[in-house]
Amino acid sequence: MTTILGISAFYHDSAACLVRDGEIIAAAQEERFTRVKHDHNFPLLAARYCLKEAGITAEQLDFVGFYDKPLLKFDRLLETYLDYAPSGFRSFLKSMPLWMKEKLWMPDLIRTEMAKANGIDDERAAKKAGKKFEWKLLFGDHHESHAASAFYPSPFEEAAILTIDGVGEWATSSIGIGKGNEITLLKELRFPDSLGLLYSAFTYYAGFKVNSGEYKIMGLAPYGEPKYAALIKDKLAEVRDDGSIRMNHEYFSYSQGLRMTNRAFDRIFEGPPRRSESKITQREMDLARSIQVITEEAMLKMAAHAHKETEIKKLCMAGGVALNCVANGRLLREGPFDDIWIQPAAGDAGGALGIALAIWHRYLGKPRTSPEKAGTWVNGKSVRGPRRGSPAGVLVPPVNYAPDARAITVQGYADGMKGSYLGPQNSVSEIEAFLQTSNAPYKKYSREQLPEVVAQFLSEGKIIGLHQGRMEFGPRALGARSIIGDPRSSEMQSVMNLKIKYRESFRPFAPSVLREHVADWFELDYDSPYMMLVADVAAERRRQMSDEEKGLFGISKLNIKRSEIPAVTHVDYSARIQTVRRDTNPLYWEIIEAFRQKTGCPVIVNTSFNVRGEPIVCTPEDSYRCFMRTEMDYLVLETCVLDKKDQPEIAEKTDWRNEFKLD
Ligand SMILES: [Fe+2]
Repeated sequence: MTTILGISAFYHDSAACLVRDGEIIAAAQEERFTRVKHDHNFPLLAARYCLKEAGITAEQLDFVGFYDKPLLKFDRLLETYLDYAPSGFRSFLKSMPLWMKEKLWMPDLIRTEMAKANGIDDERAAKKAGKKFEWKLLFGDHHESHAASAFYPSPFEEAAILTIDGVGEWATSSIGIGKGNEITLLKELRFPDSLGLLYSAFTYYAGFKVNSGEYKIMGLAPYGEPKYAALIKDKLAEVRDDGSIRMNHEYFSYSQGLRMTNRAFDRIFEGPPRRSESKITQREMDLARSIQVITEEAMLKMAAHAHKETEIKKLCMAGGVALNCVANGRLLREGPFDDIWIQPAAGDAGGALGIALAIWHRYLGKPRTSPEKAGTWVNGKSVRGPRRGSPAGVLVPPVNYAPDARAITVQGYADGMKGSYLGPQNSVSEIEAFLQTSNAPYKKYSREQLPEVVAQFLSEGKIIGLHQGRMEFGPRALGARSIIGDPRSSEMQSVMNLKIKYRESFRPFAPSVLREHVADWFELDYDSPYMMLVADVAAERRRQMSDEEKGLFGISKLNIKRSEIPAVTHVDYSARIQTVRRDTNPLYWEIIEAFRQKTGCPVIVNTSFNVRGEPIVCTPEDSYRCFMRTEMDYLVLETCVLDKKDQPEIAEKTDWRNEFKLD
C-alpha cells in the first residue's frame, strides 16, 4: 500500500490531499478549519484531517509532495526584480523576509509542520521529530500539478490538457496531452504575459480583491457592454490566433509593484481604480464585460490551438482561470472538443491533489485504473461492486432513477473525484451531542422522511442551511454545505443576497438541477456536477420582456422577472448550473426530486453555506453559528432539523460582521 500526501501552500488557498494506491481518500482546504478565507499558511489542520480520514500517522506516509518549486519561483522573483530595478524595490523588500525565513527552507519547514500535524505542538520538538520521517519529499512543477489535477481524475483515457492561471514558477498557461498514466506538457506561456493576471488587473481596477473577486467580475459582466474591448486589445493585450497573449507592460505594475495597474492604465480608462465598497457604476460593469469578452476569446483560441496540437476531441482543464464557467460554457458550445472535464478545485488548492496523483502515476508509473478499486461512489464513500463507466472514458450505462413512471436516460462519465465530496463528515450522534450541549432545540427525522420535509420547507419559500455528507473540495458548495431555496420566487435573489449572505445585490445565484431534467430547463444536456459550466435558461422557460424593460441599463435590469426560475436566471438569461445525480449525492438528489414532485420544478437555488468573507462552513458549530447570524429559516444537520423560531437568542460579545474581512 502506498500513501501520498499532497500539499499546496504559501500563495493562496492552501490545501492537503491524501491519495492511497491511486484513490483520493481525502482533500480539504486549510481555510475551512482555520476560518481564514484563502488561508495561505501551511495546511496543518487540513493535513491532520487527511491523516485522520486515512487512519494513519505522518510516519506512515510513503511520499509527501509539494505542488510547486519554490526555488524556481524565487528565481522568477529575483530576475523580474533585476529587470525592473530600481523600480519595485519596495515590493521586493516586502516579499524577501518570508522567502529568507521560510520558503527557501521548504524541506525542513514541511518536515516540521508534518510533525505538528502528528500532534507535536512545540516548535523545537517538531523540528527534531520532522527530521526522522522516512518518507520521500518531492516537488512538482506548478502547472504540471494543475495538469495532473485536470487529467488523472478525469474520465478520459486520453485528452488535451489546458492549464491557465495567474502565474506558477514562470508558466502562466500550458497546453499538454494526457494518455494513460502519462502527461506531456507541450507548450507554455510565460510570465509576465498572463491571462489570469490580466483578468486580476481588471478585478483590482474595478475595486475587488485580487485572487477572490474575479468571480464578481464574471457576475457583473452581463450588466455591462463590451465598450472597452477594442481599447484593451489595442493598448493592453494582444490576443494572438493561438490564444497566447502579449501584454503591454507599460500599463501594469504587478511585476515590480504592490499594485496590479499603474497611472498609465488609469489614464486610458480616465480615472483611478474604484475604491472598494464604493458604488459600482456602469463603468465597472462595462470594464467587467470587456475583460470577460477578451478572456473568452483567448480561451477559445487556446482551446482551438490545443486541439490542433493534440488532435484529441476531449479536453481537461485546471488553473484559476478554468473557474471562469461562462468561458467554459462557451468552450463546450463553440469549441472544437466533444467533451470537457474541469477539475472542481481548479485553483491552487487543487495543486495538492495534482502533485499527489502525479507521484502515483508519473513518478511511480502506476496505471490509472485499478480493477480491485472498482466501485461506485456514494457520497464520497467507496461502495464495492460493479464499477460504473470503468475503465476511464467509458460511458456510464443509462439509469432510470425517477420514482415516477417517466423514463429518464442519463448518460455521463464517472470520474475519480467522488463528486468532490472529499472533506470531513459528521455523524448524527456527534451532531446530537453538539446540539444538546448548545441547548439548541431540534427535531430528528429518519433518512427516508428527510427529503419530503426539506422539500416542503422549500415549497413554502423557506431558506434552509443544508449540512450533510462530506464537505466539498474546491470553491463551490455542491449540496453538502449549501444554503438552498425556491428558485421560482422573484424575491429570493435579493433576500438571499441581503439577508442571508450580506453581499452585493448584483450577485447571481446558481441552480442545482436534477441531471435527468437539465435539458428541459436549460440550454444544456451535459453533466456539470461541479458547477463549472454556464448555459442559458431554456427559451420556453423565459419570460418575454416588455419594450420598456428591454430599454433598461445596468443594475436596473436586476429586478425584472426573466424566467420561471428568476432567482437563478442572470440578467442575460444565463445560469451557472450544477447537475445533480443520485449516485453521487443521494440525499441532495432526493430533496430536489421531492421538490419537483410537489411543484413540477426540478431546480433549486444553491449557494455556499457562509456569509460574505467567511470560508464555507465545515463543522456543525460553524453551520449553527452561521444559521443563527442570518435570516435562514431552517438548518438541516444530517437528519436533525432546527427551526429558527425555536432557537434561543445567542448573545455575541462583539459584532460578528467584523469577524470576516470582506472579500
Ligand atoms: Fe496556479
